[in-house]
Amino acid sequence: GKSYEYIKVSTPRTGVGMIELHRPKALNALFTPLMLELNAAFKAFDKDPSIGAMVLTGSHKAFAAGADIKEMSTKTFAEAYGDDFIESWSELPNTVKKPVISAVNGHALGGGCELAMMCDILYCSEKANFGQPEVKLGIIPGAGGSQRLTRAIGKSKAMELILTGKTFSGQNAYDWGLAARVFETAEQCVDAALETAETIAGYSHIAVKACKEVVNKSQDLGVREGVEFERRVFHGLFGSEDQTIGMTAFAEKKKAQWTHR
Ligand code: CAA
Repeated sequence: GKSYEYIKVSTPRTGVGMIELHRPKALNALFTPLMLELNAAFKAFDKDPSIGAMVLTGSHKAFAAGADIKEMSTKTFAEAYGDDFIESWSELPNTVKKPVISAVNGHALGGGCELAMMCDILYCSEKANFGQPEVKLGIIPGAGGSQRLTRAIGKSKAMELILTGKTFSGQNAYDWGLAARVFETAEQCVDAALETAETIAGYSHIAVKACKEVVNKSQDLGVREGVEFERRVFHGLFGSEDQTIGMTAFAEKKKAQWTHR
């Protein structure tokens, strides 16, 4: 496969594309060259018909310690605004149709916390260290943190965390509903993410993409419009081969052989 400098890509399980952030000298701080590679890797897996789901992880020490402070420190307003700084990666896992599971171990701070929250499912280990410490640097979260953290854990808690910059543990993330599951060790966390991704990749890719799309719509639409949107997509799936294949296999008590069409 393609080789990258700041990430590692692999296919450790059937149908699963794994991306590991790999900039160990800077605790996976997110800077432009890394984000360009991450973008390219997501897009490549999304296009690859043998892949059905993705896992995004870092090291045991750091998922990502935030946007690169050294890269940002000399930016002016004109540059940040003029180049729409962070716009190109603030929706990253949402620009691909296949689901992305984040497996978070170690530090997930600032942009790292935001990147984890952009993913479709978040798994973490108990000792993961989350936070939005931007206020300490004289800025605010810039990749969706103020919106996604608030949606996930409620206004008062999110406000307290964003205003104080205090970190919170993986166990907290799970208790507050930010993480879907929490694990004792980093290995268990990554294994479980791969296992869930393999399960998802074993279904019709068409149905899986539609599931992701309709659940994500719930974040933007009211319930009534959201349900209407869901119904349109639901109806549309009766035009897929996989709908016939899935239902016939059930009736014949066989395993479905998906065509992903
Ligand atoms: N940007 C650039 N470099 C970073 C970095 C970051 N966000 N986080 C860590 N590093 C670098 C350190 O500078 C250090 O490099 P050197 O060895 O060259 O000095 C190396 O990574 C190791 O870090 P530490 O020595 O600090 O490791 P530690 O174990 O003592 O502490 C830490 C770990 C608590 C995560 C600490 O590194 C830290 O506080 N990092 C910054 C966290 C932060 O503020 N993140 C938010 C950034 S702003 C943002 O993300 C904006 C946004 O919303 C998009």
